[in-house]
Amino acid sequence: MLTTMVTILSLLLLLTFAPMVSLACPHGCKCYSDVPSVNCYNLGITTVPSGFPPNTTLLAIRHCNITTLRRGDFSGMPLLAILYLDWNNISTIEPGTFDGLFHLKSLSFGGNCVGKLNPGLFKDNKLTDFDGSDNRIEAIPSGVFTNHSSLTSLILNDNRISMLGAAAFAGLPQLVEIQINDNLIPCLPAGALKGASKLWSLSMARSAISEIEQGAFSDSTSMQILDLSGNLLTTLEGTLKGLSNLNSLSVSGNRVLEVTNSTLTSLTSLRDCWLDNNKIRKIDSGAFKGMGNLNNFYLGNNDLEEMPLNELVGVLKLDLANNRLQTPPLNMTAAPNLAILMLSGNPMKSLAPSQFASLKSIYEVDLDNVTALREHTMDPRALCGAPTLQSVSMNNNNFTSFPKDLLTCSKITSYLSLAGNRMAKFKKDDFYLMQIVQLNLADNKITNISILSEALESVIFVYSLTLSGNPIVFLPAKVYPVGSLTFDNMKLRAVDKDAFEWMGKLQSIDMGKNRLRFIPGKLFANISVEKVNLEGNPWQCDCQMYEFAQWMKNNNMTEKFDVVCEGPVTLNGTYLSEVPLKNLTCDCVHYQAPTINTTGSDSHVEAGQRARLVCNVTGCPEAAVIWTTPLGDSFSEDSDDPRFSVLPDGGLEIHETKITDAGMYICTAINYLGTSQERVGLMVTGSATSK
Ligand SMILES: *[C@@H]1O[C@H](CO)[C@@H](O)[C@H](O)[C@H]1NC(C)=O
Ligand SMILES: *[C@@H]1O[C@H](CO)[C@@H](O)[C@H](O)[C@H]1NC(C)=O
Ligand SMILES: *[C@@H]1O[C@H](CO)[C@@H](O)[C@H](O)[C@H]1NC(C)=O
Ligand SMILES: *[C@@H]1O[C@H](CO)[C@@H](O)[C@H](O)[C@H]1NC(C)=O
Ligand SMILES: *[C@@H]1O[C@H](CO)[C@@H](O)[C@H](O)[C@H]1NC(C)=O
Ligand SMILES: *[C@@H]1O[C@H](CO)[C@@H](O)[C@H](O)[C@H]1NC(C)=O
Ligand SMILES: *[C@@H]1O[C@H](CO)[C@@H](O)[C@H](O)[C@H]1NC(C)=O
Ligand SMILES: *[C@@H]1O[C@H](CO)[C@@H](O)[C@H](O)[C@H]1NC(C)=O
Ligand SMILES: *[C@@H]1O[C@H](CO)[C@@H](O)[C@H](O)[C@H]1NC(C)=O
Ligand SMILES: *[C@@H]1O[C@H](CO)[C@@H](O)[C@H](O)[C@H]1NC(C)=O
Ligand SMILES: *[C@@H]1O[C@H](CO)[C@@H](O)[C@H](O)[C@H]1NC(C)=O
Ligand SMILES: *[C@@H]1O[C@H](CO)[C@@H](O)[C@H](O)[C@H]1NC(C)=O
Repeated sequence: MLTTMVTILSLLLLLTFAPMVSLACPHGCKCYSDVPSVNCYNLGITTVPSGFPPNTTLLAIRHCNITTLRRGDFSGMPLLAILYLDWNNISTIEPGTFDGLFHLKSLSFGGNCVGKLNPGLFKDNKLTDFDGSDNRIEAIPSGVFTNHSSLTSLILNDNRISMLGAAAFAGLPQLVEIQINDNLIPCLPAGALKGASKLWSLSMARSAISEIEQGAFSDSTSMQILDLSGNLLTTLEGTLKGLSNLNSLSVSGNRVLEVTNSTLTSLTSLRDCWLDNNKIRKIDSGAFKGMGNLNNFYLGNNDLEEMPLNELVGVLKLDLANNRLQTPPLNMTAAPNLAILMLSGNPMKSLAPSQFASLKSIYEVDLDNVTALREHTMDPRALCGAPTLQSVSMNNNNFTSFPKDLLTCSKITSYLSLAGNRMAKFKKDDFYLMQIVQLNLADNKITNISILSEALESVIFVYSLTLSGNPIVFLPAKVYPVGSLTFDNMKLRAVDKDAFEWMGKLQSIDMGKNRLRFIPGKLFANISVEKVNLEGNPWQCDCQMYEFAQWMKNNNMTEKFDVVCEGPVTLNGTYLSEVPLKNLTCDCVHYQAPTINTTGSDSHVEAGQRARLVCNVTGCPEAAVIWTTPLGDSFSEDSDDPRFSVLPDGGLEIHETKITDAGMYICTAINYLGTSQERVGLMVTGSATSK
C-alpha cells in the first residue's frame, strides 16, 4: 500500500514536469483521470499490455489484435467495473482471467473468435451486463452464468451455440433481457431459465430451435417480449403456458402445424402476435379465448383453409394473406374492432354481397390476387354495406378494365390500389365523384395518359397518383393535377412544355428510369415541387437542355434537379449543372421545329397483312416521334408492343392487322422548338372470317 502511494506520488511529480508523458499509461493508450479510465484503440498489440493506472475503473481495448486473455491480465486493476474488448482477435480466455475483479459489472467482447466460456469464469464478478455477440462460442454449459445474483442483460447473438446446459441461465433472479439470436440451439431445456422471474424480453430468433421443453418458461411470468422467429418449431403446445404478461410474441418462419384451443390460452395480455410463414393448417374455434387484448395478428403464408374470427374482440389488424382460404373468414361479427383485413393471395372462390358489412370498424381490405376477382365470380356488391371501408387493394387480379361495378357502393376515400392488372383504358365516369388520397395504378397496360386524365376529371380529388411501370410514352399538356406523381419505370419519351401547367400543388415527382432526352425549359417554372427524381433517363446535354439549365442555375435549383448527362459522348456522366451554358449546343445547320411528311404510307391493307405508315420528320435537333392509334394507344420507339412498332425512321409498322385497326392514326414529332402532328388514315378490309 505504502509503495503504491509512493509510486503514485512520484508519478504525479513526473506529470507536473512532463504532462504529455504519463508513465502509468500503456504505450498508445489514452488515460483519463477524472473517471479513471483507459482507452486503447486500433493498436497492433496481441496481448493485453501492462502498466495501467491501478485505480482504473473503465478499460476499453477495441480494434486491436489481442489474441488471448490471460489470467492476471487485469489483476492490477482491482476497481475495474467496465471492460470493453470488442473487435479484437481473442480466441482464448484462460480460466481465472477475471478472478479477483470484484467490481466488474459490465463486460463486452463482441466481434472476437472466442470459442469457449469455462464454468466459473465470472465467479468473482458482479456482472450486470454481458455482451459476447459475434464470436464462435459453441456451448453455454451450466455454471458459466448460472446463479449470478446480479446479471440483468445477457447478449450472445451470432455465435455457434449448439448446446445449452440444463441450467444454463438458471438462478438469475435479476435477469431482464436475453438475446441469443442466430445460433444453432436445437433445444431449450426445461430448467434453462429456472428462477428468471424478472425476465422481460427473450430473443432466440434464427437459432435452429426445434424443441422447447415443457415448462421452460414456467418461471418467466414477467416476460413481455418473446421472439422465436426463424426456428424449426412444429408445435407450441404447452410451451407458452403461464406467460400471462406477454405483450409481443413472434413465431414467424417456423413449421408450426396447428393452433388448438390450448396453444395460446394463457396469453391474456398479448397485443402483437406473429405466426406468419408457418404451416398452420388448422385453428380450433376456441383458440383465441381470453385473448381480448390482441391487436395485431399476423397469419400470412400459412396453409389455412378456414379462419374463425371467434373471440378476436380486440383485433385491429389481421393478416391472412397467402393461405388457402376458400371462403372469407367465418363469424365476422366476433371481431367488431377489426380495421385492416388482409386476404390477398387466397383461392377464395366467391365473396357474398355485403361480405364485410358485419365488420363494424373495417377500414382496409386487401384483395390482391384473389381467385374470385381473377375469375369474376365475386358478387359485385361484395364491398357494399361497409360504410367505414376507405381503403381497398385489388392488385394482380387480371382486370382488363376499371372494376367500377365493385366500387360503386363503397366510399373509398383513402387508398385504392389496382396495380399489376391489365387495364389500358378508362371511361369518363369510372372515377365519378370518388375522392381518393392515393390512387395506385402501377404495372398496368396504360400507354396514353390523356384517357386517364380525362377520366380523373370527374373525381372530387386525388392526392397521389402512381403509374410506375405502365408503358406511357408521352406527357401531354395539362396532366391531371395532384400533389404527388410517381411516374418511374415507364416509357416516357417526351414531355409537353405545359404538362405540369395545372400542377400548382405538386410536392413530389418521380420520373426516374424513363426514356427522356430533354426537359422543356419552363416545365417546373410555376410549381414549387420539393422532391424530384429524374435519374435513369438518357439525358442529352445539348441545345434542347439550354433553357432548363439556365432556369435551374438562375433559380438556384441545381441541387434539387440532379440531371446526369448521358450524351453527347463527351459529357457522358457529367452533371448538367456543371456544364457551362455555352457548351449546351447542337450540331444543326438550320434550327427548326419538326415538320412531318407522311407520303408513302399504306392507306389500305387486307386484314392479317402488315401495314406501314410513314412519319418522315424534318427538323433539327432530332425530334421524338410518338404514334397514337385510332383506339387511343400511344407508342414510341421504346414501346414493346407485340403488334405495333415505331421504327427508327419514324414509321409505324402494324403486324397482322385486324379490322379494328382501321381509322385515323396520328404521328406527333417533338423537339424543343415545337411540336407538329399529322394524321394518316388506314383502311383494313377482310373476309368475315378474319377478326
Ligand atoms: C491486426 O492484424 C492484421 C493481420 O495481421 C493487420 O492487417 C492489421 O493491420 C492489424 N491491426 C492493427 C491495428 O495493427
Ligand atoms: C487515479 O490515479 C491517477 C494516477 O495513476 C491519478 O492521477 C488520478 O487522480 C486517480 N483518480 C482517482 C479518481 O483517484
Ligand atoms: C488472429 O489470430 C490468429 C492466431 O490466433 C492469427 O493466425 C490471425 O492471423 C489473427 N488475425 C488477425 C486479423 O490478426
Ligand atoms: C374448442 O373450443 C370450442 C369452444 O370454445 C369448442 O366448441 C370446440 O369443440 C373446442 N375444440 C376442441 C378440438 O376441443
Ligand atoms: C361467433 O362469435 C360469437 C362471439 O365471439 C360467438 O358467441 C358465437 O358462438 C360464434 N359463432 C360460431 C358459429 O362460432
Ligand atoms: C396468385 O395466387 C396464386 C395462387 O392462388 C399463385 O400461384 C400466383 O403466383 C399468385 N400470383 C401473383 C402475381 O402473386
Ligand atoms: C387473365 O385473363 C386472361 C383472359 O382474359 C386469361 O387468358 C389469363 O390466363 C388470365 N391470367 C391469369 C393469371 O389469371
Ligand atoms: C442557393 O441555395 C443554397 C441552399 O440550397 C443556399 O445556401 C444559397 O444561399 C442559395 N443561393 C442563392 C443565391 O439564393
Ligand atoms: C456512358 O458511360 C457509361 C459508363 O460510364 C457507359 O456504360 C455508357 O454506355 C455510356 N453511354 C453512352 C451513350 O456513351
Ligand atoms: C466546354 O467547352 C470548352 C470548349 O468550348 C471545353 O474546353 C470545356 O472542356 C467544355 N466543358 C465541359 C464541362 O465539357
Ligand atoms: C413529301 O415527300 C414526298 C416524297 O418523299 C415529296 O414528293 C413531297 O414533296 C413531300 N411533301 C412536302 C410537303 O414536302
Ligand atoms: C424522308 O424524306 C427525305 C427527304 O424528303 C427522303 O429522302 C427520304 O427518303 C424520306 N424517308 C422516307 C422513309 O420516306
